[in-house]
Amino acid sequence: MTKELKSAEKSYNPIWRFLAYAKPYWRFFALATTAGIVKFLVPLFFPYVLRLVLDDVIANSTLSPHEKSLEVMHLLLGVLAANLVWMAATFGRSMFTAMAGHSMIRDLRVALFSHVQRLSHQFFNKRQTGSIVSRVVNDIAMAQNFVGSALSNVWMDSALLLALFVILLKINALLTLVALGLLPIFLFSIRKIGGRVRIASREVQQRIEVISGGLQEKIAGVSIVKGFSRERAESKAFASQAKKLYSKVLRSVRFSSLNEMLVGFVVLSSPVMVVWYGANQVIQGRLTIGELTQFLLYLAMFYSPIQRLSDLNVVLSNALAAIERIFEYFDIQPHVTERPDAIKLDTTRGHIIFENVHFEYESGIPILHDIHFEIKPGETVAFVGPSGSGKSTLANLVMRFYDPTSGAIYLDSHDLRDLTLASLRSHIGIVNQETILFSGTILENLLLANPTASSQEIEKALEAANALEFVDQMAEGLWSEIGERGVSLSGGQRQRIAIARAFLKDPQILILDEATSALDSRSEHLIQDALSRLLKGRTSIVIAHRLSTVIHSDRIISLNRGRIEETGTHLQLLEQGGLYAQLYQEQFFHVPRNVD
Ligand SMILES: Nc1ncnc2c1ncn2[C@@H]1O[C@H](COP(=O)(O)OP(=O)(O)OP(=O)(O)O)[C@@H](O)[C@H]1O
Ligand SMILES: [Mg+2]
Repeated sequence: MTKELKSAEKSYNPIWRFLAYAKPYWRFFALATTAGIVKFLVPLFFPYVLRLVLDDVIANSTLSPHEKSLEVMHLLLGVLAANLVWMAATFGRSMFTAMAGHSMIRDLRVALFSHVQRLSHQFFNKRQTGSIVSRVVNDIAMAQNFVGSALSNVWMDSALLLALFVILLKINALLTLVALGLLPIFLFSIRKIGGRVRIASREVQQRIEVISGGLQEKIAGVSIVKGFSRERAESKAFASQAKKLYSKVLRSVRFSSLNEMLVGFVVLSSPVMVVWYGANQVIQGRLTIGELTQFLLYLAMFYSPIQRLSDLNVVLSNALAAIERIFEYFDIQPHVTERPDAIKLDTTRGHIIFENVHFEYESGIPILHDIHFEIKPGETVAFVGPSGSGKSTLANLVMRFYDPTSGAIYLDSHDLRDLTLASLRSHIGIVNQETILFSGTILENLLLANPTASSQEIEKALEAANALEFVDQMAEGLWSEIGERGVSLSGGQRQRIAIARAFLKDPQILILDEATSALDSRSEHLIQDALSRLLKGRTSIVIAHRLSTVIHSDRIISLNRGRIEETGTHLQLLEQGGLYAQLYQEQFFHVPRNVD
């Protein structure tokens, strides 16, 4: 199928879209900024007082020593009082910044997850699970830095810098010029090197995404890795990935270190130049000791926000890259969408028609050709065919996980694309090739199908699915914890839980995409028995490898390379001696089953 659609919004700058999430919390940001400005302005007081102490009190010959120490005490008590204000401001700044940042990031994270969930199967097929997870977890965390340090620091630091600059100029304009003489190096560092840092950090994130993706697969499939004794090979492959990440990280660190180095040089050397020039001014009587001291203290303050601004540049670059990646996901639109005027189908008879359906996952590679059939309400139709002939694909189309490339599918004479997704899917129950059970209790897994089911309903469903017995035998019964994929249950037990889930959902339409894997005869019988109960009275699409399910269906359709080859009952098709007869011979008759 075509590449994922991109919305027209794409040109819209991600940073503005990101900032839109801050809007509801502007009060927190305003408070954080106010507290921040106070926090940074209060320390300006002390150098000023120090100059007064040095020049106007200590060096003042008209005051007695007693008067002098009294004056010093008053001045310094004033500074201490101001420091109390600083304490409150500092606390407030951190708290409000965190409240603003975390609220906004929380909203963004939830929005991203919800969006990703809405995306079509194409999106998930093309990406490794881990790499999607990495974007929702790592990139969001990176973007958080942007809010945490950048969004409020940038204002405070700018305000402080401006204030300091004015003060320095007022003390001594020439001295200020000397002090800022090295500024061009700083600006160069920010402009040229900052950009490189951003590119490098983006590459690092991409590498992490690749690693996370691979890791997730290899951990989920650990038994395959062990089964084929691939541990060494996998470690080697992982090491090579880790090495690539290392070199990207190093590159990123090289640029940020370079930046740090240049900025550090400016910070260290400027006071030297100031003292050099300033000392001569003092010697010539054009500057007092107090003024020079005050100037140096202010100058020291001048560089810390600059340094922060330069760090900010790095944080900003990293965060910006993450923000871009986050909105890249937001720009991907689901293929399967709901019309604004979609019909909510409250009940269905379960009448399904496929009309000239063609389908391709990747454009140019047709999977289904000209599929045409009708399933009347309550009928059971079995689909058979070699592996890869398109049976599961057909089932996916009924669920509207994908839309046909051309042609249409109708439910009760509504084109599926005219129905709301939720109402369509609410009428379809699916028992899959691979039963996925989430980690949690058996009960929680059952309630997925019907969150309001009563305990009688649950018991009835388990009984109908032939699952009550084994669930009751478990120590915790319904409350037994099962793993991410229900690993502590056997294959047959998992299938019966899935069948119980279908009973609980009680849909009008049932899709049964059976596992090929064979079970022992008792398990087989229990499942068979449960399934025949489940199929009763529903429109059913059965993709079966089990003989009896197929034989008892109303009709059998055999698929070959995405085309319908034969249609008829078991006996009719056997008589025809075509594909079905051949499959029947191979699959259901001659080939002995493995018992696991
Ligand atoms: N997500 C996908 N993207 C691209 N191609 C796919 C995708 N899923 C399936 N295919 C291809 O579509 C074809 C039909 O696959 P499908 O899963 O429908 O076969 P099947 O009849 O269910 O086989 P089986 O009996 O083994 O379950 C195969 O050639 C498969 O490679
Ligand atoms: Mg299949």
